[in-house]
Amino acid sequence: MTYVVTDACIRCKYTDCVSVCPVDCFHEGANMLVINPDECIDCAVCVPECPADAIQPGDDAGVERWLQHNATYSAQWPVITKQIAPPDDADSWRSTPAKFETMFDPEPATR
Ligand code: SF4
Ligand code: F3S
Repeated sequence: MTYVVTDACIRCKYTDCVSVCPVDCFHEGANMLVINPDECIDCAVCVPECPADAIQPGDDAGVERWLQHNATYSAQWPVITKQIAPPDDADSWRSTPAKFETMFDPEPATR
């Protein structure tokens, strides 16, 4: 099993999750992170760290879509191993539902 990042991360990108992952399996896109499902060891320590509640078990009902999304983009985006500052307006997007359709950016992070 793996954990997955859902669209609740979009435009929030707090990266608290990155600082606790023991196997560095987070990858960074322009406005969200994903987890490499082949590297996640299912430890769950990242789950309570996310202020946006964006991380869910990959085998939960309705999460299949995000499992595929995490697998696809973790193969394309760079690994992120250290916490970074969130976007200035991160808190204002925290409770916005269904951000994927209108806000997802498929580009990798550029820093
Ligand atoms: Fe990393 Fe553990 Fe979270 Fe998987 S469950 S992404 S191994 S911190
Ligand atoms: Fe995203 Fe939550 Fe991590 S908002 S960057 S999954 S701490």
